[in-house]
Amino acid sequence: MLKVTGLHKTFDGTEILKGVDLEVDKGDIIVILGPSGSGKTTLLRCIDFLEWAEKGHLSFDGIELEFSSATRSQVSSVRKKIGFVFQNYNLFANKTVLQNVTEGLIIGRKVPEEQAVEMALKALDRVGLSDRLEYYPSQLSGGQQQRVGIARAVVMNPDVILFDEPTSALDPELVGEVLDVMKNLARDGATMVVVTHELNFARQVANKAVFMEDGIVVETGTPEKLFTDANNPRTRQFLTGILSH
Ligand SMILES: Nc1ncnc2c1ncn2[C@@H]1O[C@H](COP(=O)(O)OP(=O)(O)OP(=O)(O)O)[C@@H](O)[C@H]1O
Ligand SMILES: [Mg+2]
Repeated sequence: MLKVTGLHKTFDGTEILKGVDLEVDKGDIIVILGPSGSGKTTLLRCIDFLEWAEKGHLSFDGIELEFSSATRSQVSSVRKKIGFVFQNYNLFANKTVLQNVTEGLIIGRKVPEEQAVEMALKALDRVGLSDRLEYYPSQLSGGQQQRVGIARAVVMNPDVILFDEPTSALDPELVGEVLDVMKNLARDGATMVVVTHELNFARQVANKAVFMEDGIVVETGTPEKLFTDANNPRTRQFLTGILSH
């Protein structure tokens, strides 16, 4: 469904992504693992054009583009198919929960308000926040804010949702509620790419795992394979490191 080939991204003269390939099939739950600075966030952001990569090809559900020369209309078609969930939620502080979720529909998609509200209510129900519609982000726990972030992505009905360490800003006791929402989405057939250090989630939910280091994909396989029998010594070393924490 989505295939990235040979993705290169440079920041300030330093090559951060050095030719990354990533293939996502419909219904895949892919976890991306790797040390800090390996380029995981940059990879997700380039796929969603939050950053512009210099080189690489994207094939996405009939769209074929070069990152170096994508047109506005290609970028907008790609972005319509992608949901993004940020580590720090990125909610509008001055908008209520309901407004945060309807905003993209009303402004971005020109959905009439009444219909947008109806769609938002369904999305907020899926993340268990039907009773917080009029709250502002500052009145919510981190776990609740992240669930709003997920509802905001889901409501746009994307083909794939990219999650960038969705639980790593949360207090430990709030991680579970967010992972539960993500597990439910996975069960309902969502296609998800998740940067995370939650190995239990990876084991229970993901069908593919990708280990990145220093701007390249070192190894791809099932989570079980990577965790117990990785081919590459670096994969083994890194995963053993987080497994023993
Ligand atoms: N906007 C930017 N400007 C300059 N350098 C950047 C920018 N964004 C990321 N980098 C650099 O790119 C490298 C990869 O960053 P990235 O955030 O993708 O790593 P990551 O794998 O997501 O790390 P973490 O696990 O800490 O989130 C880092 O060295 C970082 O300093
Ligand atoms: Mg990151």
